[in-house]
Amino acid sequence: MRQGGLVAFPTETVYGLGADALNAGAVEKVFKAKGRPSDNPLIVHIASLDNVIQFATVMCEKGLRLAKRFWPGPLTLVTTRKASVPDIVTASLETVALRVPQHPVTLELLNKFGGGIVGPSANLSGHPSPTSADHVYDDLQGKIDLILDAGPTRIGVESTVLDVTVDPPVILRLGGLSQEEIQKEIGEVRGTDSKELLKRSPGTYHRHYATRASVVVLAPKDRRGLEKFIDQAKTTGKTVGTISYSKSLNINADEFHIVLPSSLDLYARNIFRALRELDKKGIDIILVEGVQEKGLGAAVMDRLRKAAAKKE
Ligand code: TXA
Ligand code: MG
Repeated sequence: MRQGGLVAFPTETVYGLGADALNAGAVEKVFKAKGRPSDNPLIVHIASLDNVIQFATVMCEKGLRLAKRFWPGPLTLVTTRKASVPDIVTASLETVALRVPQHPVTLELLNKFGGGIVGPSANLSGHPSPTSADHVYDDLQGKIDLILDAGPTRIGVESTVLDVTVDPPVILRLGGLSQEEIQKEIGEVRGTDSKELLKRSPGTYHRHYATRASVVVLAPKDRRGLEKFIDQAKTTGKTVGTISYSKSLNINADEFHIVLPSSLDLYARNIFRALRELDKKGIDIILVEGVQEKGLGAAVMDRLRKAAAKKE
């Protein structure tokens, strides 16, 4: 990394693709390897709260409280950036996104490295995020220098991105830390409309979590919906796979039907893996059972909706 190489690293959320955040040439290679549009800024990972001043001019009081409470953890704070942060990192925005990841391997990497490490999810742009080293390898083999393999990630969806340059702070991306938990700490935070989101976080507008198969999200326990889509697919000759957790949707678990544990934590942990596994089989349609939109469930539904969005 000191020589400008690209190193994929584990975090508690998903794997990231690391490079020295102050080396614009190395960061450019990250964009290239992922095929990432240049208007989509990167998160800078740091070892602790003490490193914030390397990248940010200010951190407001609410941001500080959240950092003290939830770092290391699945929370990314967007704050005003220092001029010394390369433009390519922030897509020339006035802000920078910072996060201390909760993973022993990566905290040690950050401590030994000393600086900040950019870390977009280590997938090809537009693909589901990688929750194991295999996923990184599948997407980026031959394009990066090294993968630090620490097994599957614990949370399975990316960090929550919160813009603390405004009051009340704005959620730019739901993720591993729920809105409810954030509000318990600092009171009201709000969502955005699409116009404001485009201004504050332009990258969120690109297609995300796309599989080759089309994805259909079912309501929880929607046995009828499941049967309807399977029948429809049969008449059109399309192949179908399912990802579910409710007993009522547990159709004979062959290789196209992935049954996950019914705990929300475990569903989140496994959802990207399941999407990738089914997609590898080359089926046409993946039916996914949705979850209640509370806590971590809101982040899971956000990912599923994006996966199900129509292709351009
Ligand atoms: O959990 C995670 O956040 C993972 C792990 C590796 O840390 N990283 C990750 O990075 O998901 P990425 O690049 O896939 O997503 C970063 C998100 C994008 O939605 C991006 O637009 C937003 O953060 N972002 C980054 N910098 C920003 C900024 N200055 N202002 C607004 N949004 C920003
Ligand atoms: Mg990503």
